[in-house]
This record gives sequence, structure tokens and C-alpha cells, in this order.
Amino acid sequence: MAGRVPQSFIDELVTRTDIVELIGTRVPLKKAGREYRACCPFHDEKTPSFWVSPDKQFYHCFGCGAHGTALGFLMNYDQLPFPEAVEELAGRLGLEVPHEGGAGPAPTQHEAMHEMLARVAGFYEESLRGNERARQYLRGRGLDAEIIARFRIGYAPDAWNEVLRRFGATEESRGRLLGTGLIVERETPRPGSEPWYDRFRDRIMFPIRDPRGRVLGFGGRVLDKGEPKYLNSPETEIFHKGRELYGLHEARLARVKLERLLIVEGYMDVVRLHQAGVQYAVATLGTATTAEHLRRAFKLVNEVVFCFDGDRAGRGAAWRALQHVLPEAREGREVRFLFLPDGEDPDSLVGREGREAFERRLGTALPLSEYLIEHLRSQVDMAHADGRARLVALARPLIALLPAGVYRELLIERLSSEVGLSGERLQVLLAADDASGTPRASRGDTPPGRDRDSADSGTPRRRVPLAGRGGVVTQAIQLLLHYPAIAHDMSSEQLAALTEAPTAGVPVLHELLTQIRSQPTASSAALLERWSQRPEGPRLFELASTELHVPDAEAASRELAEALAGLTGRERRRQRLDQLIEKDRSGSLDAEERAEFQTLIRSLGGAAAPR
Ligand code: GTP
Ligand code: MN
Repeated sequence: MAGRVPQSFIDELVTRTDIVELIGTRVPLKKAGREYRACCPFHDEKTPSFWVSPDKQFYHCFGCGAHGTALGFLMNYDQLPFPEAVEELAGRLGLEVPHEGGAGPAPTQHEAMHEMLARVAGFYEESLRGNERARQYLRGRGLDAEIIARFRIGYAPDAWNEVLRRFGATEESRGRLLGTGLIVERETPRPGSEPWYDRFRDRIMFPIRDPRGRVLGFGGRVLDKGEPKYLNSPETEIFHKGRELYGLHEARLARVKLERLLIVEGYMDVVRLHQAGVQYAVATLGTATTAEHLRRAFKLVNEVVFCFDGDRAGRGAAWRALQHVLPEAREGREVRFLFLPDGEDPDSLVGREGREAFERRLGTALPLSEYLIEHLRSQVDMAHADGRARLVALARPLIALLPAGVYRELLIERLSSEVGLSGERLQVLLAADDASGTPRASRGDTPPGRDRDSADSGTPRRRVPLAGRGGVVTQAIQLLLHYPAIAHDMSSEQLAALTEAPTAGVPVLHELLTQIRSQPTASSAALLERWSQRPEGPRLFELASTELHVPDAEAASRELAEALAGLTGRERRRQRLDQLIEKDRSGSLDAEERAEFQTLIRSLGGAAAPR
């Protein structure tokens, strides 16, 4: 892994990128006063409530609450993972992304691998055009020219060293061919021939691309009978089978709003489904579905449907997938299982019955909970008490995989009605004898902070209150978000006094002030970006987009000073009040103190009255 991107670089990116231009190439923006507006690309609407601010360099939708900086926009709209959105912005500005610590191989090494893979993919496409037998094969499988081009399907010629000869002229380029798995080193060198040979020979080549479209590796299928039917690129520095989903890039490109993903088993299934118009089909790369796959999927959509053959192998694969899904299951995420009739696969089915009939089948897919219970029921004799007890025993380790939360509670409810026990009784049974494996209760909770490697698809976040009573904190924060530079006008004493005020929101205010003061060029966008992944983020965006009736930075600076004085003065009063309350407990407030007490209470808004 390359090191972390320094925060200052991200500040720079969101400050220097012209967000109006960035969004303008994707969404038609109309100028409206000092801002720009459009119909929101993140929800359906007829009248525009999506605003882009050229001053503050961020966007905000008053309809659905979507908001973010240039970086957030790329992550949400282009659905780019965080590092790729950073790359994209940097590329636009002609900047090289710096990485802290320099851990791992230099990113340029990976870039060279991507480039090599792209060139070889181009060569495979080219040789498909020149090979009638391969074209004939694909035609026979029902693929048209458009879909072949869209998936960049190609053909590896029937030769031992075409790729080696064309792309491996230098030691460096051979290193890349080896590193990407395109050539293989001979185990026993033969005199008179090269010590390497092409991995893929006489195969239909399916390039496997990352969500951004970069080729990571290939799946190669034999044209006739032959073993193995599919040969895949090996795991490399840039290619991890447990992470990638074939067709995800193409699904994202389909540009219809991606609402669900259909996970099927084969490359051919994906391609045929896309051709038929089911453009949200993806496949794992001949491996079982991993939790990593699911995390990727759920960053893009809230609904995932698994599609399996109805035969024994399909059922087995489905059950394995279920076990990987459980740790990722929670409310708001829909996971369903579709079993096709025995002997059918999506490829054959969609070819025969077309998109609409196929999509109707999706409607009949079993929800995760139903599938789980149905499967367990089929393993026990529900007519007898010991059968039902066994069902509970079988369910226990599975339920332990679920993160604690509403979803888990619902499943336990559902299970309890199945076995005829009360929910509480069942809870006890499930919790009993946990020596074998403690339920990982908190596993599902994402840790706070900046650990994001991928797009956050805008799941509603908990609102965190920032405002103290009277809204002084809110006002101060708002001033700072509109005019970051005024933070420099405050004195260190003003700042220090603030740390003593435990009013709600003060820590946020204090952190904002410190951030700006330690970063002389901090812009509104840079600040917002820093907070965008934190629980307070949405509220900050909201405050930044609320109009502020302050004519200029000078006025803003005065108001901020007043707000801080109010806050810290307030704090002194609060502390005095606490003293008086304490004294009152021991029953010794004199008349003067009582009067002071009353005044303090009134000025602080009537809280904390002593009995
Ligand atoms: P067709 O047989 O051409 O319809 O391909 P398919 O994509 O439908 O393949 P199938 O349903 O047989 O297998 C599903 C997936 O499992 C494939 O897409 C591959 O990813 C993987 N797979 C199948 N056969 C092999 C194999 O022989 N070796 C490897 N490594 N993977 C395979
Ligand atoms: Mn198939």
C-alpha cells in the first residue's frame, strides 16, 4: 500500500479545483446570482434545488441534503473511491499525488503496470478483429460488436510469444509483463528459446477492470473444449480477485442511476446481461463472494441480489455467499438470493426470455433472512421439539456473525416465531454457552475518522448537535465557514478561554479555529472536506450553505469576536452558577447569593435550577 495522502494536499486540491467547471461538465448548471444551480443529480426532481457555490467551492442540495466539495462530488457522482477521486483531481491540476511515509512501491510502478495491461488489452482487441474463428465464436455466443467493444473483449493469438515479442523488448518491460502475469517464466529453460512464454494463448480475453476502468488483469476462455475452461491472471500487486467485481466499471458507465447490483457467477453472464439491458450485473472472478466485494458493492448501492444456478453447486455457492454477507448485513441494506431453474444460467435465460422477464424473476428473489431460515428448516425436522432446538443451534453461529443492530434483532424475532419461542427466550438460548465464539457485537460499526477508501453513497448520517443554547456556537461556526480567514484575527487568549467552555459544539468550533490558524491558506472547501467524513460533516455543510447576513470579512471578524466573548463570558457565569448550586446543596446561600443565582439562571436560559 502506498502511504497516506497528506491532508495539506487534499486542502490544496479542493481549494484549487474549480468546482463549477468540474460539475458543469457533468450536470447542466445555470447561473443564479452569485451561485449556480441545477436539478439535483442525486435525486429526482423537477425544480432545481441543487446549488454550487463558486465562492465556497462546494455543492449543496436543499432537496435531498446531498453536499460536498469537488472531491465528494467525484466520489458520489462518478462513484470513484477516495484515492481515485484524489488522483483524478490531481490529474486535472497537473499535480503528482504525494504519499506520506513512502511505504510500499512507488505509485508510478503501478501506473506502469496499468499502462502495460492497457496496451496488451488493445493488442488482444486488435487480434480479435483479425481472427475470424474467434469472432465466429463470440457471434455464436450471441454477442454483438457493440458489447464486445464496450467490454473490450479480445483474443490472445495461438502463439507462445506474441505478447513477449511485442511488449517485452527491454528488461524493464519484461519485468512489467512478469509483474502483471502476462508472461510466465519457464521452469526448465530450453536452449535456443526465450526463458519466458505468453500466459494466454488462443483464448477469448476478458479484461478485468477496476471501477475506474483501468485494466488489472484478464480472464481467458478457451474457444473449444479445453482445460482449463478459464485461465485468469494471477494475483499481482494491483490485482486482487477477492476485491474486484467483473463488470463494475461498465455498470457505472451505464450512467443510469445505479440502484442495485446483481452478482452472477460468470463473465459471459455479465456480458450477455449488459447486452440485454441488465446493466447492473457484475461477477466475482471465479472465487467466492468476499466481505470485501460486498463492502464495495454497498458503497455504490443499497441492494444486492445474488443469482445462482438452482443446482447443487449453485446452492452450495449461495450458502457460502450468505456466510460472507452476514457480517455486512444491516438495516438499509437489502440482500436477496435468486435461484434459477436447474440447468439455466443468466446467460441462457436472458438470451431466451429477454430483459423484462428476467427482471421479473429478480422480484421473486428471497430476502437474506428468508433464505437463511428456509435453508436451516430444510436441514431439520420442524415437527419435533428437538428439530426446532437444532434449528436454533444451527442459527446461533450465523447470528453471531451479524453486527448488533436492528437487523439482527429482526432476524432473531423472525427466528423466534419460526421455532415458537419468545424473542427473549431465544436471545437467552443464542447467548448461552458463548465459549465457542463471542458474537462480534460491534464489528459492523465503522470507526470514525478518515478511513475511507471508497465512495460513500450518501447513507444518512446521524445529526450531531453543534449549537449551544442561544446558537452562539452555531453562529461562530457559520462565520468561520464563510470567512475562514477571520480565525487569524482572534487572539490566543480568546482561543484558550474557549477550551474551558464545555457548551455543546465548542470542541468543533475550537478545532475549526485551530485548523485554520495552522493552515494559512485554508479555504471553506478545504475545511469542509476535512470534516466531510465526520459525524458533524453534514451539519457543517448545511451551515456553510445557509446565507449569512454579514457584508464583509471585517464585519464577520467583529461578530466572531463578540460570539467568542459571549461564549466565554457565558462560561464564567456557568461556572459561578455551579459554585452557587454546590453551595445551595449545603444549604447556605445568603440573600445576595440568591439574587445572583436568579440573575445567572435567567441569563443562562433557565437551566439547572436547584430544587
Ligand atoms: P461460459 O461457459 O462460456 O458460459 O462461461 P461462464 O462465464 O458462464 O462460466 P461458468 O458459469 O462455467 O463459470 C463461472 C465462472 O467461474 C467463470 O466466469 C470463471 O470466472 C470461473 N471459472 C469457470 N471455469 C473455470 C476454470 O476452469 N478455471 C478458473 N480459474 N475459473 C473458472
Ligand atoms: Mn455460462
